[in-house]
Amino acid sequence: MARLAVVLMILFAAVPQALLAAGAQPDHPRLPTCSATAAAAPDAAAPTQELGNGGGGGSRIVDITHAMRPELPVMGSAAGVGPLLRLKKSMANGSRSNLSELRMSAHTGTHVDAPGHMWQRHFDAGFDVDTLDLELLNGPALLVDVPRDTNITAEVMKSLNIPRGVRRVLFRTLNTDKRLMWQKESDLSFVGFTEGGAQWLVDHTDIKLVGVDYLSVSSYDYLISGHVVFSKSREIVIVESLKLDDVEAGMYMLHCLPLRLVGAEGSPVRCILIK
Ligand SMILES: *[C@@H]1O[C@H](CO)[C@@H](O)[C@H](O)[C@H]1NC(C)=O
Ligand SMILES: *[C@@H]1O[C@H](CO)[C@@H](O)[C@H](O)[C@H]1NC(C)=O
Ligand SMILES: *[C@@H]1O[C@H](CO)[C@@H](O)[C@H](O)[C@H]1NC(C)=O
Repeated sequence: MARLAVVLMILFAAVPQALLAAGAQPDHPRLPTCSATAAAAPDAAAPTQELGNGGGGGSRIVDITHAMRPELPVMGSAAGVGPLLRLKKSMANGSRSNLSELRMSAHTGTHVDAPGHMWQRHFDAGFDVDTLDLELLNGPALLVDVPRDTNITAEVMKSLNIPRGVRRVLFRTLNTDKRLMWQKESDLSFVGFTEGGAQWLVDHTDIKLVGVDYLSVSSYDYLISGHVVFSKSREIVIVESLKLDDVEAGMYMLHCLPLRLVGAEGSPVRCILIK
């Protein structure tokens, strides 16, 4: 995995306290579930997402982004991502404001891969995350359950019967059942695409956004070759480490917004589903 470090300065005040808490919380402590009812009201700065129905119809938002916490797994490591935030200036020490520095791999937690991640010519040509198509990252998406006893092979892809015209698919697998994203030590037996499964998708479907529920779109045996099948065409966006727990399979509106990291082959992303 490329390890492009991203350093961002952010205001401490804008960061949920959970990110700085020392304890090993499973997720954001103020949110009892991964879903919440949101209103169309503009005052969305409330501390919880339970905003009630402000008369805007009350659409149902499901957050499918993992909270950024030190215990998130890293491929091939037992240590997790480690501390992400550091207070560079603190009011306790006489500064006029608290100011945190964020430091992490561009592939931390829920993130997108740009075509240059595993295809050098695309990287050289500048196809970074800032060139990803927002029209593709936002639109109708299908959440499907993959049979739990297999990786995503050509046979599995065929059996899912995903209709032509479907452009965005989130694949929920055994990884979600095993809660692999909540284990600090990475599990290399995770489920992902085989090279054949990836090729079948490219050849026989219209899918251009592929979302998965662990660190890599392709299983460990096909770590590079599976990525390459998707990245080579430059048409497919890969979204990894999605939080697909407690969501019903079906059609949703998907919204994914990566950071505009010029020159980066990946970026953390906030992804939500709207029913
Ligand atoms: C500012 O940082 C200090 C630690 O230096 C912390 O105790 C305090 O809660 C922070 N204040 C705010 C408003 O976040
Ligand atoms: C504040 O200063 C003390 C003493 O220099 C240091 O140990 C501590 O880490 C500092 N805290 C922050 C939040 O900068
Ligand atoms: C998926 O493939 C990996 C190796 O790439 C293997 O360790 C794992 O057991 C497979 N999972 C299933 C459910 O077949």
